[in-house]
Amino acid sequence: MTCANNPCYIEIPGDKSITHRALLLSLFTNQEDCIIENYANSLDCQTTLNCLSQLGVKFKQTPKKLIINSTFFRNMQLASMTVNTQNSGTTMRLLTGLLAGCDTEFILSGDNSLNKRPMQRLCEPLKLMGCDFEYLDKIGYPPFKIKGGNLKGIKYRIDIASAQVQSALLLAGLNASGFTIVSVPTLVRTHTSKMFQALNIYQRNFNSQICGVKYLEQPIMPYNMSIPGDLSSAAYFLALAAITHSSHLFLPGININPGRRLIIDALIKMNANIKLINHKIINFEEVCDIEIKGGARLKPFNIDYKNIATGIDEIAILALLMSVANGTSYVNDAKELMYKESNRLALIIQNLENCGVDIKACPDGFVIKGGSQIFGDSLWETHNDHRLAMTGLIASCIAKRPINVDNIKCIDISYPEFIASLKLFSNTFDIR
Ligand code: S3P
Repeated sequence: MTCANNPCYIEIPGDKSITHRALLLSLFTNQEDCIIENYANSLDCQTTLNCLSQLGVKFKQTPKKLIINSTFFRNMQLASMTVNTQNSGTTMRLLTGLLAGCDTEFILSGDNSLNKRPMQRLCEPLKLMGCDFEYLDKIGYPPFKIKGGNLKGIKYRIDIASAQVQSALLLAGLNASGFTIVSVPTLVRTHTSKMFQALNIYQRNFNSQICGVKYLEQPIMPYNMSIPGDLSSAAYFLALAAITHSSHLFLPGININPGRRLIIDALIKMNANIKLINHKIINFEEVCDIEIKGGARLKPFNIDYKNIATGIDEIAILALLMSVANGTSYVNDAKELMYKESNRLALIIQNLENCGVDIKACPDGFVIKGGSQIFGDSLWETHNDHRLAMTGLIASCIAKRPINVDNIKCIDISYPEFIASLKLFSNTFDIR
């Protein structure tokens, strides 16, 4: 990152969702090196790598490059084992989809937070495909036991807009006889389908919400991939730049998958001075540089079922933007936020209220009357949720008085360099 000259230039780490998928798909190659550059060096992605290693996948790791070598999944001689996916919902759900293709018994378990996240939405369709499930503690939640193999393809409509569930079922579909067609009720991130395209894995997009795959007959070719910057990590700096006068920020090479553009669309609609330039398509993913200048008078913005899934990880930082926008913003249909790394919906409302924002809870969402300066001088509870911790630190930067974020260590789950980049960026403009 350099900030010596205007604009401040921050290199955002590789995308977490794409990294998970790039790692997991190595299970479909056969004993040839795959190279993944600019991967997300977050704890969550390290968890996926550790799980692969437990399955026997070999890897060499440097800070910017991973070389992975896996035996074709169906040829692996796997013993029964417990796989601990720590805090990572993406690892647990996508890996479950994959392991469902194997007739060995596995136990999947997570940390205290992940073991409270719902899994029925995935286990039910996997059962229809022929996989056996047993919940070991609370019904519908991890830890659970699975025993798959002999899967058959299904046509399935997920009633929750979840990219994790859709991706897990598509991965299961690669090991299932016939076709597996999975639809989601509204647009979600489409990284799995884009990566299938890039790796020449048969898939058919009936439209942006319905994707089909078929049994993968043979191992795929080894691949070399460079992971674009993570828009969800960029979101915190984009918001800070939009809110603060005299800021000028440049973020190169950010992925703007249509299924997760809400933060960009919101900033444009809110009147922020933002430009997307140098558009490229890399491995079927849209990538661009983002330039943003502070000082614009921000307008309110509304979120509902039509667009919420495209910004599901950014609702906390969007709520902060709404708090300083001039007017009333509404967030509806945000129930899914109750099932993230924390009950993020309740904590967004509680933390913003504690620092003086006029926010009111409503069924499945909240209403924010924005416009006045955030007072701060408050405690910001994270419940170990990395996205809340980063939002709290940004809130503290713009509040009249500092905000005490109760845990910043959890930020390593997605963005270990966040605090260093925040310090550098926040030195380049007048904060209060
Ligand atoms: C993800 C999908 C989203 C998101 C998560 C990453 C993915 O979860 O919140 O951080 O990589 O597919 P859901 O699909 O459960 O909404």
